Amino acid sequence: MKNFQYYNPVRIVFGEGQIEKLADLVPNDARVLITYGGGSAERTGTLDEVRTALAANSNREVFEFGGIEPNPEFTTLMKAADKVNEHDIDFLLAVGGGSVIDGSKFVALVSSLTDADGSVSRDKAWEALTSYCKNIDSAIDLGAVLTIPATGSEMNSGGVINYSERQAKLPFGNPLTFPKFSILDPAKTLTLPERQVMNGVADAFIHVIEQYLTYPVNAKVQDAFAESLLKILISEGLAVKNDPNNIETRKNIMWTATMALNGLIGTGVPQDWTTHMIGHELTSLHGIDHARTLTIVLPSVMRELKDSKKDKLLQYARNVWNIDGAEQGQQLDEDTIIEMAIVYTENFFRELGLPVSLADAELDESAIDPIVKQLEAHQMVKLGEHSKNDLSVSRRILERAVTSKAS
Ligand code: NZQ
Ligand code: ZN
Repeated sequence: MKNFQYYNPVRIVFGEGQIEKLADLVPNDARVLITYGGGSAERTGTLDEVRTALAANSNREVFEFGGIEPNPEFTTLMKAADKVNEHDIDFLLAVGGGSVIDGSKFVALVSSLTDADGSVSRDKAWEALTSYCKNIDSAIDLGAVLTIPATGSEMNSGGVINYSERQAKLPFGNPLTFPKFSILDPAKTLTLPERQVMNGVADAFIHVIEQYLTYPVNAKVQDAFAESLLKILISEGLAVKNDPNNIETRKNIMWTATMALNGLIGTGVPQDWTTHMIGHELTSLHGIDHARTLTIVLPSVMRELKDSKKDKLLQYARNVWNIDGAEQGQQLDEDTIIEMAIVYTENFFRELGLPVSLADAELDESAIDPIVKQLEAHQMVKLGEHSKNDLSVSRRILERAVTSKAS
């Protein structure tokens, strides 16, 4: 195991009916901006619950900013940042999924980057994003009410921002944007369309994979924890498809997705975010849902990088898919075991209704060149746990992803 520091200051408030706790969690005299998405929070009544809780016994002044898109748009967030300054906001309350929370984190970081006329500087904000927002040293406090389990944004300090005009979807991270608290009410997820539920399960699954499927460093806690999270996502992902109203299943999915990307399983181990980095380009060029880009790319990442990931792929086959290496009394060779694990993974995604190839998303080999160009433009040229996978490797991954290899 490598040396590490682990720091996670996010207060999690988990359970049905917990939105009322906002009355205690948000400072009494705060000037609050509630941020939300395209309308689901209003439709489902969640926003009303939030408004009521914030109004309870307090001097808070509450403003609202709606319309943050899935894959939150830079230009929209600049308007939110202007609103922050206009109303002297000192607390952001994100009500929604990863897009609203990520977008609010970005607003929290960049609203102090103003031009001479007092408006938020689009140029400075863009420049900050292109250097991962690492150098920003102040941010507005933020809390979250999570409505879709998927990204882990509710318990981490990262985010991903889309800038359509520049065809860029870029990640950032800054410890100042750990939420002060996140409310996780599993009942809020019952209104999600099936597509979003399945997207969330797959996104969380692949967050675990990106922190696990590298090479062994004898990190027993991280490995066993990661394998457990993967097994829970497999069983609960299939369970929620068959029984979407089961609140116990929703609880387990919600907490698993949070644990998948709150930093814990990534401590002291190598990580490989290749699938995400290629996936971001697929979203920015073709508008494919984040999780679906990942299920398209991951099987080909596993196949292309099978040699460097061999030990972990064999461990994954054994511990997650119970492939014991013997079939009808015969010992299977390592390549066969690994291919079985990859096919099981693809079949799991398919059972959730997710694509596993570019063809499944109605794309063909002509999609590859533009994606590779964008990876280059975004300096994604040394991917992988050894930072050695150049554009030729990404190209081969995409070539493998054109059609599914599984029968
Ligand atoms: O916009 P509204 O109307 O609210 O509808 C949303 C949206 O259309 C809807 N929705 C959310 N909660 C709902 C609901 N509909 C009905 N009932 C509810 N309770 O679901 C749709 C998707 O929402 P979104 O926030 O986009 O989904 P998700 O949480 O999957 O977030 C995806 C974004 O997070 C980024 C992705 O790149 C993507 O931009 N990620 C952030 C990460 C992080 N911060 O650590 C890591 C991830 O890898 C991921 O990259
Ligand atoms: Zn993700």
